[in-house]
Amino acid sequence: MFCFMFLMVQTLTWPLSRGDPTVTCVFRQNCILPCNVDPSSETIIHWDHLTSGEHNVHSYYDTEDQLGRQDQQFKGRTSLFKDLISRGNGSLMLTGVKIQDEGRYSCYSSTERGSRKTFIQLKVEALIKVSIKLVENRIICSSEWIYPQPELSWSVNPPSELEINSPTMVHQTEEQLYSISSSLLVSDRLYDQTYSCTVSSSRNKKTASFCKKEVMEASKVAAIITGGFGLWILIFVVILGFCSRITEAMCKTAS
Ligand SMILES: *[C@@H]1O[C@H](CO)[C@@H](O)[C@H](O)[C@H]1NC(C)=O
Repeated sequence: MFCFMFLMVQTLTWPLSRGDPTVTCVFRQNCILPCNVDPSSETIIHWDHLTSGEHNVHSYYDTEDQLGRQDQQFKGRTSLFKDLISRGNGSLMLTGVKIQDEGRYSCYSSTERGSRKTFIQLKVEALIKVSIKLVENRIICSSEWIYPQPELSWSVNPPSELEINSPTMVHQTEEQLYSISSSLLVSDRLYDQTYSCTVSSSRNKKTASFCKKEVMEASKVAAIITGGFGLWILIFVVILGFCSRITEAMCKTAS
């Protein structure tokens, strides 16, 4: 019996011990940190950022925003849904999300019926854009404004050995964002290869591909054409069509 009760308690408390709920916000965009409060016309709300001490993010009482204690970091970037507070919505709207906004937040609320405090984790993510280009015999892959720290990997289809020209470089900017780049040597002998570069950070992942197609030398084309119409033209068209279809198919495998 005791064991059964213990198990019951365990199952009931288990979800609470799994940690705070997490909200993932996109760098420079707006984000809502949810918080339920007791419906009342006399609600007091204190939002605090708990990373390295307790910093006031936004306070509300006497039916007004109270920003006297607000931390500099959040100045002009916070608001509550004021007409919804009396109905129990104490969510915080944060605009222009910064990397420094990451961390744990508490939402304290009190009404004539008592008080409560809930916690939430804010994670910041910056969207990844990957650019890939051919410079002489090198394929350069680069990505900027990424967060958290990214990784970069190369692949080639059909598979063959890759020659990394330069080691992957990672830089971090003042805004704590990362940029990453890497380059690859491309063999002159290999045609119809699709080179793909993948940049990934914890949740976010993007791949850019570069297709190296065989370019018919003008002299070859001229030789084929002048070598007689009819059969030669037909063969040429068939071969060309076949090659371009293969290249197209390979280019499409990357996303
Ligand atoms: C509070 O209201 C805002 C705006 O309508 C909404 O986006 C948010 O999800 C609400 N939060 C809660 C906890 O109900």
